[in-house]
Amino acid sequence: MLPATLTEALRHEEERFTAANPRSRAQFETACRWLPGGSTRTTVFYPPFPLMMARGEGAFVWDLDGHRYCNFLGEYTVGVCGHDPALLDRILAEISRRGLMLSGPTEFEARLAELICSRFPSCELIRFCNSGTEANLLALALARRATGREAVLVFQGSYHGGFLTYAVDDGPLNVPLRTVKARYNDVAGTQAIIGAAAGDLGAILVEPMLGAAGCIPGNAEFLQMLRDEATRRGIVLIFDEVMTSRLAPGGLQEQLAITPDLTTFGKYLGGGFSFGACGGRRQLLAMLDARNPGFAAHGGTFNNNVASMIGGYISLSECYTPQANRRLNALGDQLRSGLNELADRNEVPLRVSGRGAVMNVHFTREREIATPGDTGDANSLLLKKLLHLALLGDSVYIASRGLISLGLMHSDEDLESLIAAVRGFVLKHRVLLEQCV
Ligand SMILES: Cc1ncc(COP(=O)(O)O)c(C=O)c1O
Repeated sequence: MLPATLTEALRHEEERFTAANPRSRAQFETACRWLPGGSTRTTVFYPPFPLMMARGEGAFVWDLDGHRYCNFLGEYTVGVCGHDPALLDRILAEISRRGLMLSGPTEFEARLAELICSRFPSCELIRFCNSGTEANLLALALARRATGREAVLVFQGSYHGGFLTYAVDDGPLNVPLRTVKARYNDVAGTQAIIGAAAGDLGAILVEPMLGAAGCIPGNAEFLQMLRDEATRRGIVLIFDEVMTSRLAPGGLQEQLAITPDLTTFGKYLGGGFSFGACGGRRQLLAMLDARNPGFAAHGGTFNNNVASMIGGYISLSECYTPQANRRLNALGDQLRSGLNELADRNEVPLRVSGRGAVMNVHFTREREIATPGDTGDANSLLLKKLLHLALLGDSVYIASRGLISLGLMHSDEDLESLIAAVRGFVLKHRVLLEQCV
């Protein structure tokens, strides 16, 4: 008998999950004694408890109970190169040869800077830091210093880090910024808001594709309007490409041919080690140049840590080359189309949004997803949780919020396993989907 309601279906999947994962559960309980919520990242929690991961290789991860999953989460888009022992050995050997804590600048930091600046059109100079959040804080600080204006335009649903969250409400831990909010992809509405606040706005902070809100691509007209308004009114335009910079060799700025004043980076660019960076126009970054009178000091013990600099340089130059980047994102476009065709053929209210190899499943009747409001209601969120737990039962690992991110390690067979698992889910829960969405 199929479960009649969504709550029952979820309960059923949670019971199956709990029974199958006694070691993860025990480890979660141990971890909760020392870590609030059993981890150090809210993102990785889902009820009843998250799988505790033991190791990874190739396209796969293994949990503590010994189950093997095809990893379509890729550490929330970091994992472009997969779990590649040969690449990791090469990086670790280089780190080991040079040593950590060298107490000064190193050649690898300049090499990584050159490589990133040569790929991303907006970057004449770049400054490294430790996370995407930090990169955004730095970009905002530079914009405020350059313009002398306090307010920042952000978009409803955007995520710029743990302290810069503008989901349905502002994140409770947000830094105290003066923000003005607009609707993503709303050209006329946003233009009016910019016009009204212009004298006060120092920065426009925007993801060229909303990531955490569900991989909602910004359309070219909207992003170009932001560029034009920023230029016209002397506002610093910041593209947060922490998630999107992997979607083309020069990021979405290159693909859309729209150049921001500053770009923030993170995730895969450190080769799997902690990473953040803010790059952009020479004149803005030069404010950090200690040779200039009146420069702005910006420290950070680990900004140039050897592991991230070497990891980033080797993985970007030897693994995630422009050619590999294009191939991976073309594969992602194919997968997304395949999943959407599957939904259309079976007439179920499911849509996969995104660009290239980063995408998100939604349970909605909308065919075009342009704003967070199009991604469905509370039932859509519950259905994503159900999908996540059900796919785990098929050895397929995606995020509980529906995020899917491909890496170079995925084979055609792996993609087939994902499509088959989604097909199985859709066929099993067709009636439920029809009732709930
Ligand atoms: C668009 C975007 N900006 C910023 C961040 C924050 O990066 P980090 O987690 O490295 O602080 C994220 C992280 O997911 C992100 O997706």
